[in-house]
Amino acid sequence: MVGPRRHLLPLILISLTAFFFYSYHHSSLPPPSTSELNPNFILSNPIHAQNPNPTSPNFTFIIKVLAFNRLDSLSRCLRSLSRADYLDDRVNLHVYIDRFKLENGSTSLDQKLDESHRILEFVDGFDWKFGDKLLHYRTGNVGLQAQWLEAWWPSSDDEFAFIVEDDLEVSSLYYQFVKSLIVNFYYNASNYSPSIYGASLQRPRFVPGKHGNKMQLDNKTRLFLYQLVGTWGQILFPKPWKEFRLWYDKNKAKGIKPILEGMVTTGWYKKMGERIWTPWFIKFIHSHGYFNIYTNFLRERALSVSHRDAGVNYGKTAGPDSQLLDESSLDINVLEMHPLNSLKWYDFCFREVLPGRVIRNMDHLGSFLNTLQKQTSVLFVSLIGVSDAVAVTRNILCHFESLNIRNYILMGPESDSLFDLARRGHLVIYTDQFVESAGLYKLTSKGSNFEAIRDIMAKVYVIKKCMENGYNALVVDGNMLFHSTDLFLEPKDTTNDFVVTNNLELFYAKSSPAAEKIWVDDFVLKVVAMANSLARKDSSSHDGLTFVHIITKLLEQNGAKIRRLDENTFGMKIDSSGIKKSSLRDKKLVYWPTEMGMDSIQKWLQELDLWAVDGDSSCTAVVCHKS
Ligand SMILES: *[C@@H]1O[C@H](CO)[C@@H](O)[C@H](O)[C@H]1NC(C)=O
Ligand SMILES: *[C@@H]1O[C@H](CO)[C@@H](O)[C@H](O)[C@H]1NC(C)=O
Ligand SMILES: *[C@@H]1O[C@H](CO)[C@@H](O)[C@H](O)[C@H]1NC(C)=O
Ligand SMILES: *[C@@H]1O[C@H](CO)[C@@H](O)[C@H](O)[C@H]1NC(C)=O
Repeated sequence: MVGPRRHLLPLILISLTAFFFYSYHHSSLPPPSTSELNPNFILSNPIHAQNPNPTSPNFTFIIKVLAFNRLDSLSRCLRSLSRADYLDDRVNLHVYIDRFKLENGSTSLDQKLDESHRILEFVDGFDWKFGDKLLHYRTGNVGLQAQWLEAWWPSSDDEFAFIVEDDLEVSSLYYQFVKSLIVNFYYNASNYSPSIYGASLQRPRFVPGKHGNKMQLDNKTRLFLYQLVGTWGQILFPKPWKEFRLWYDKNKAKGIKPILEGMVTTGWYKKMGERIWTPWFIKFIHSHGYFNIYTNFLRERALSVSHRDAGVNYGKTAGPDSQLLDESSLDINVLEMHPLNSLKWYDFCFREVLPGRVIRNMDHLGSFLNTLQKQTSVLFVSLIGVSDAVAVTRNILCHFESLNIRNYILMGPESDSLFDLARRGHLVIYTDQFVESAGLYKLTSKGSNFEAIRDIMAKVYVIKKCMENGYNALVVDGNMLFHSTDLFLEPKDTTNDFVVTNNLELFYAKSSPAAEKIWVDDFVLKVVAMANSLARKDSSSHDGLTFVHIITKLLEQNGAKIRRLDENTFGMKIDSSGIKKSSLRDKKLVYWPTEMGMDSIQKWLQELDLWAVDGDSSCTAVVCHKS
């Protein structure tokens, strides 16, 4: 009978959905402080940390003005830049003038030449007393993409660029703000994050993820982080920009296009192609998990506004997008900076992201669970002993994104790749530190099966913690991929406290008084003892050294109510020939042998259309879910 057996997974998924829904509506619940949970997240920058100077003696700021054929715009722009207070800093001005296009039109060639010469003359005569002025006059028309990309190659990690298109106007306060921002978020080690690529001075307005959230900020928020680049007044930090240029180079050379499904900007790319540069940068930011600093100065005010003059972006003049914030209208402290861990982070869907959450001990887990809703489920994905290829794990996460599965926790020993996943906003448990904090290391013989035993212990403990906090736990290994949510409508299983699968590391524990009564310290010790004894046996018999095998044995001895599932009723193994996409229809997940290599996994999943990552191991699509 397939029917009754299939009740369990639905139940899990129903509760998962309920939780996702809940968490979406309660994203304002204060998560445990980032710095408290993960001291490593804010990476320290040793050189700068010891530097008493708020910046570096090598700090350099260059304004890069991108101009074309609009003298009036350019003159308004340069005048606004020269009215700013540069605090006695040396600030260089570089003006890049793109050449007119040779095309048949109403304007004669002579007129165009004349226009260009007047612009050159104006910039030549423009008095810039804050540093060097440099004019780069192009010999041919290169367009906006090359204007942006070729504007800057940072000469050091202390050089910053402010890219300004000629129809922008900046506030006289802008530099003071930018300087405070760089001092606080770049040079102050306790507020530094390698994920931040710069800051936009424009008023945030646009959410590029299709069906994303409306941009809503409470009016106490002054600064926040958002993935999207803002082309109307963008400060660029040197390291990420260099990284982007190299990435662009590689992708361009290989003929890879900056296609990111689910993004409005990809539509722009399909129309405008290489005339614009933002789709490239957006794709880069998405694949690297980077963020931009934005301001929220209320009442449509910003430190940089675009007059949206007729040109490449606008067929005809659209007028200023925002109000310029100036000293006369000041009712807020523009220069007030905040600790990084007090700022909110938003992705391309304008959904809040919580980066840098690493759980290292039982208390951490407890405090995270306490921010969730009671009576729901948490999905734990163990990455121990499965393919450690980044792409395989990221593919699983891309499917979580598209299925709107949000309350998952990844488990594995501390590693750079796990740390990187935490940086990108995925909640992570470092199992080595976690198990140690539970005081179980001393019970374990450090043999060749150490990792397997640690994995088992970590699973026993996360389930225990879930039960104590009133959560159901679904524990799986990273060799399976959920691809369906159509089980959500099935009824709740009320009879069984545990569900196990015969040949798959998939285990479900309900939070119930009966289950909690079994899962006590004594039970945990029995699990550890059994794992140790299995590990000591001949290596040939280590097949039994798995979590599900051991737990099933011990639960049976305790007379627990267990439902046994045959994985073939809901899952499909992908290592045999004759696999068809059509046979996937009534399956809820696919899985592969733990020893299968990354290339084979990719090949099989591609055949089933379940491979959702690109050559950068990043999701090929952005999927927004409305809150
Ligand atoms: C400043 O730049 C010089 C020359 O590149 C370098 O030798 C020096 O270490 C830099 N100083 C700091 C504090 O970064
Ligand atoms: C410009 O017009 C000339 C003749 O009217 C034509 O031969 C040429 O192809 C046109 N060039 C462009 C770029 O449209
Ligand atoms: C702040 O928010 C409140 C309530 O949403 C609104 O009534 C008020 O006008 C806002 N204040 C400003 C300065 O935008
Ligand atoms: C660095 O940032 C922290 C946290 O925001 C702050 O307490 C500290 O005063 C800052 N240090 C300096 C030198 O500004």
